[in-house]
Amino acid sequence: MLAIIGGSGLTTLSNLDVSRREVVRTPYGEPSGALVFGQICGQPAMFLPRHGYGHTIPPHMVNYRANLWALHHHQATGIISVASVGGIRADLQPGEIVIPDQIIDYTSGRKATFFEGNGSAVTHIDFTEPYDHDLRCRIAEAGAKLGIAMKSGGVYAATQGPRLETAAEINRLERDGCDLVGMTGMPEAVLARELGLPYAAISVVANHAAGRGSSARGIHFESLDKVLQGAMGRVRAVIEELAVSAARGRASAISA
Ligand code: HPA
Repeated sequence: MLAIIGGSGLTTLSNLDVSRREVVRTPYGEPSGALVFGQICGQPAMFLPRHGYGHTIPPHMVNYRANLWALHHHQATGIISVASVGGIRADLQPGEIVIPDQIIDYTSGRKATFFEGNGSAVTHIDFTEPYDHDLRCRIAEAGAKLGIAMKSGGVYAATQGPRLETAAEINRLERDGCDLVGMTGMPEAVLARELGLPYAAISVVANHAAGRGSSARGIHFESLDKVLQGAMGRVRAVIEELAVSAARGRASAISA
C-alpha cells in the first residue's frame, strides 16, 4: 500500500477517500498523528501529516522513527514524502516541483537510526542512492502523463531548523552542490531505507532560499501561500496518477 507523508501545505489529502483512522503505538513513541487509511482512485493508500494535524510539530521535534515504524508496521510498500523547500539553484522558482536524487544531511541531534547496537550486530546500510530509483521514475512518469512540469534530480540539503538559513549558509550549501533546502528530509529517508521501504520525495519550492531572488532581503512566507497551494494541487494530481498507474501495472501483471 502506498503511504504518503505530507508536510507544510499538505496536512490533509483531500483525494483520499478515508475509511478509517488509527492511533498507532510504536516502540519509539507516538507518530505525528493517527494514520489515515483509505483509497485514492480505488487504490488503498495511507496518509500521515509529518507536523501533526494542527501543524504543531517543528521539523527537529518530529518523531521520525515512530512515523516510519508505524507506516512499515501497517504494510506500506512505498513512501512518497511531500515537503516544501527553498530553492537554491537559479532555475528553481517558487511553485516548481522537484524530485531530488541526492541528499546531504546537515541536521544534528536527531534520532537517525533503528540500529542502536543493543546486542545486535553492527549494521551499515548502503545509502549511495538515498531515494528509490524506480519510485522516482514512477513519479516523473505520472507527472509527464499529466503534463505537469517536474524537475527530476537535485541535491536536497537537510538543515536542522526550525530557523531558516542565513544567506552565507545558503552560499555554503550551494558550494557543497546543494540545489534545494528543507528541514525534514533527514532522517526520514535513511529510516525508510533501514526498514527496506522504497522512499522518494516530491519537493515543492515555496520560496527562493535566503539571500536569493525574492528572498534577497528576507523570506516572507505569507505571500507564497497561494503558490504553495497551487503546487500542492498538482502534487495531489500526480499522487492520484501514481495510484492509478500502480493498479494498471498490477492488472497487466495478473493478465500476463
Ligand atoms: N529553508 C529550509 N526549509 C524550508 C525553506 C527554506 O528556505 N523553505 C521551505 N522549507
